[in-house]
Amino acid sequence: MLGAVFGNHSTRSWIFVMHPIVNIAVRAARRAGDIIMRSADRIDTVSIVTKGKNDFASDVDKRAEAEIIKIIRKAYPNHGILAEESGGDSSADTLWIIDPLDGTTNYLHGLPHYAVSIAMQHRGKLEHAVVYDPVRQELFTASRGAGAQLNERRIRVAPAKDLSGTLLGTGFPFRSEQHIDAYLGMFKALFQHAADIRRPGSAALDLAYVAAGRLDGFWEIGLSKWDIAGGALLVREAGGLVGDFAGGENFMESGNLVAANPRIFKEILQTIRPHLTPDLQK
Ligand code: IPD
Ligand code: CA
Ligand code: CA
Repeated sequence: MLGAVFGNHSTRSWIFVMHPIVNIAVRAARRAGDIIMRSADRIDTVSIVTKGKNDFASDVDKRAEAEIIKIIRKAYPNHGILAEESGGDSSADTLWIIDPLDGTTNYLHGLPHYAVSIAMQHRGKLEHAVVYDPVRQELFTASRGAGAQLNERRIRVAPAKDLSGTLLGTGFPFRSEQHIDAYLGMFKALFQHAADIRRPGSAALDLAYVAAGRLDGFWEIGLSKWDIAGGALLVREAGGLVGDFAGGENFMESGNLVAANPRIFKEILQTIRPHLTPDLQK
């Protein structure tokens, strides 16, 4: 059974019933959120490792991830897990895809904008998603075919008809210098059409904000599966489209992603097309 809404038109009292899998994901995301917030105002005590160029993880990322995995494994011992800090086998039929702290750079700078992202996919199809912002206590949830919610209220993508007047989100290619020129070409082209562009620093939250209509669209080069999985389902269930730079389904593999309502999605693709190098065509 998918998540469902039961209600009564005369009293306007609506009860949203979450899918049991989403309930587990929410429990795990909130527990991870507690771990994250406990250290948020004493970042100087957090130990940090550099995983690669401009790529950091802290013991908070690791502890939050361990807690999420513990809760999921207890409920679903036979499911596969792919998690940013501990890896895993992505070939399992039923796979949980976890980013325990999306926006680590913000977190480590005391910039209060980051999230926990937990998604479940079955045979390659995203089925359930939770993105939780522990600072604002905003909980974004979705199950395939049952819509997307923010704190249990239905959300929809923004209704913009074209790029003029839109607010777009993006991420910079700060770990892949080879894409800087292509990226700046895309940025300039979109910037000339949109009202403005934001780089908030958490792809999972950026996508949740597209789902909630706070951003009209989003694009980024070279994301990882755990940055994308939760937010992509939220956008789709909120009536938006998610695709790679050719508009196709390869975004989980390539990490190149565009998300928006169907009209803005098409216009973003058309606008960035002249700036795509061969390795950004999907
Ligand atoms: C990062 C954030 C950021 C995006 C990066 C991601 P992390 O995730 O989502 O917004 O630009 O590409 O890697 O490292 O903070 O989990
Ligand atoms: Ca991430
Ligand atoms: Ca992370």
